[in-house]
Amino acid sequence: MQIIHTISELRQTVTSFRQAGKIIGFVPTMGNLHQGHLQLVEMALSQADIVICSIFVNPLQFGEGEDFEQYPRTLQEDADKLQQAGCDIIFAPAVAEMYPDLELDGQAQSQVQSQVIVPGISNILEGAARPGHFTGVATVVAKLFNMVQPDKAVFGAKDYQQLQVIKQFVSDLCFPIEIIAHPIVRESNGLALSSRNGYLSEVQKQQASAIYQTLQDLSKQIIAGAQNYEELEQQAVAHLNAQGFVTDYISIRAADLSAATASHKHLVVLAASYLGTTRLLDNIEIEL
Ligand code: PAJ
Repeated sequence: MQIIHTISELRQTVTSFRQAGKIIGFVPTMGNLHQGHLQLVEMALSQADIVICSIFVNPLQFGEGEDFEQYPRTLQEDADKLQQAGCDIIFAPAVAEMYPDLELDGQAQSQVQSQVIVPGISNILEGAARPGHFTGVATVVAKLFNMVQPDKAVFGAKDYQQLQVIKQFVSDLCFPIEIIAHPIVRESNGLALSSRNGYLSEVQKQQASAIYQTLQDLSKQIIAGAQNYEELEQQAVAHLNAQGFVTDYISIRAADLSAATASHKHLVVLAASYLGTTRLLDNIEIEL
């Protein structure tokens, strides 16, 4: 396995694989890898000849007061895990390689010139809570796509809205890349794996499984025919908050994140909830 830090070396290496007719699979991450990330790598390996995993904590997608500085950086441990998983190349650029003009003590987004904005979908749910977040995500993913030039890229359904934003700009801007979704990987108690779970105490990790249980209860009611979505959402929020959460939203949506109506057969229920200071995300897709 190779670890590459510069765009020019990455391009040279990818060009030689391309010339040899290899299919390139790509898994973008921010590192601090867990089993969820590694399963994305496995999926990429099953569908491509060469798999590249990027590790880059992207300042552009963190708002002021968020955990950019605190975000765990564990390149050595990540490299060991990726090597074991069979990954071929790690691309781990420095911030200055990705954003040469950026000074980290200011507002990142106001210093970067061209950015990828996906209107509408970027401003609801996570985007409403984290203004500019999805522009930061779409911009870095578009840059990474142009550097890696993969045939396929794998993303987790854990970040459901992120996946929709990426599918949208890939389609709108004609990136010749197949976007593959991997289902959410969970702890045995149901808690969705996340690098941010490291901020939770052991007791909180047990408590946190209540989010998945609440989503499951809600989806069972919908499958059983309940259509009073607003009331279901409110009940679920109250149920979580009674257990010590501070819930930002529980939202029943159509699969494309538009408002859910009785005619939609593919739904998704999304949750964002704080346990202490940690913001936890989860979702369940429902086929009626
Ligand atoms: P990160 O949070 O490191 O996640 C990298 C990828 O792993 C994303 O596609 C995410 O959805 C997926 N993932 C994380 N936890 C998962 C789980 N429990 N089950 C399945 N997939 C999971 O998402 C990002 O990084 C960044 O926004 C990025 C796309 C790299 C752009 O900076």
